[in-house]
Amino acid sequence: MSCRPNKRRVKNLQEIHFGEFCIETWYFSPYPEEFNDSPIIYICEFCLSYFISEFQLRRHVSKCTIMHPPGNEIYRDDEISFFEIDGARQSTYCQNLCLLSKLFLDHKSLTYDLLPFLFYIMCKQDQYGYHIIGYFSKEKNYTLNNLACILTIPPYQRKGYGRLLISFSYELSKIEGRIGSPERPLSDLGLLSYQQYWYETILEVLWDTKEIGDDYITIDEITAKTSITQSDVLFTLYESGICVYQGQVCIRLTEAMLDTSLNSISKKRRINIENLKWSPPH
Ligand code: ACO
Ligand code: ZN
Repeated sequence: MSCRPNKRRVKNLQEIHFGEFCIETWYFSPYPEEFNDSPIIYICEFCLSYFISEFQLRRHVSKCTIMHPPGNEIYRDDEISFFEIDGARQSTYCQNLCLLSKLFLDHKSLTYDLLPFLFYIMCKQDQYGYHIIGYFSKEKNYTLNNLACILTIPPYQRKGYGRLLISFSYELSKIEGRIGSPERPLSDLGLLSYQQYWYETILEVLWDTKEIGDDYITIDEITAKTSITQSDVLFTLYESGICVYQGQVCIRLTEAMLDTSLNSISKKRRINIENLKWSPPH
C-alpha cells in the first residue's frame, strides 16, 4: 500500500466474517462493485479470498487446502510465526491482504503495484492452521522506511501484537545493519504505538547503559543499538519529557521512573531473536 494521502470515500461494507470473528469495518475499501450491495463480506482466513455469501465461503473452505500464508516461515516461537511473502510472487494473496487491511486504514491509498513490496504476516498456530493476527509491508529497496503499512486485525488489537510487529521490523533492520522509520503519514493509532515502542526501547537502552556502569550514551549510540533513527530518538526523548530544553538540554529521568517502566515492559510480548531465521533478500 502506498502512502499518498487518500481521498475519503463513504464506507461501502459494514462487516466482515473472518475465521471465528464478525468484525465491523472502519473505512472504505475498493472490493469489486458487486460487493457494495452486500453489507457483509465473507473472507477465507487462510487464502483471504472473499465471497458474497456464507454458502459460497463454506463451499470454498471445503476445497481450500491452504493452512498458512504462502511464503517462507522465518520466525516461530511457542505462540506465533512470521511468514515473509513477496508481492511479486504471491500477487493474489497480497492484493487480498491489501483490500482487507484498507477496511481499517483510512489514510493510505491502495496501489495495485505490489511488485516492490515484501509482506511480513504474523500468525497464531493451532491444530487448524496459522491464523493471521496482523502484518506489515515493506519496500524491497527502501531508503529509510523499514515499514510501509501495519495492521493488527481488530479483535487482536490492544494485546501487544502491534508492538511485536513493530519490534520485528526493527529486528530485520538490525540484521540488515540499517536504520529505519515508518512511512508517513502515521495514523493516530500508528503514532501512539510507535511512540510507545520507541519510548520503551530507549528506556531499556538507558537501563543497560546504567547497568554496565557507563555515565552517558550518545543519540548515535542509541540509534546504533536500536536501528531507530536519530530524529525518532530525539522526538521520543522530548515528547516523553525525558529531555527538556531550559536554556540547555536537561535529562529528567530518575531511577524510580526507570524501575517502574521497565517492570511493566518486562511483562510485554517480545521477539526472541534466536527464533528468527532470516537473511536480507538479494
Ligand atoms: N488507545 C490508546 N493507546 C493505544 C491504542 C489505543 N486504541 N492502541 C495502541 N495504543 C498504544 C498503547 O500505548 C499500546 O501500549 P500499551 O497497551 O502497553 O499501553 C501501544 O500503542 C501498543 O499497543 P499494541 O496492543 O501492541 O498495538 P495493536 O496490536 O493494537 O496494534 C496498530 C497497533 C497496528 C496501530 C493497530 O491499532 C491497527 O492496526 N490500527 C489500524 C491500522 C492503522 O492505523 N495502522 C497504522 C497506520 S500507520 C502505517 O501504516 C505506517
Ligand atoms: Zn481459502
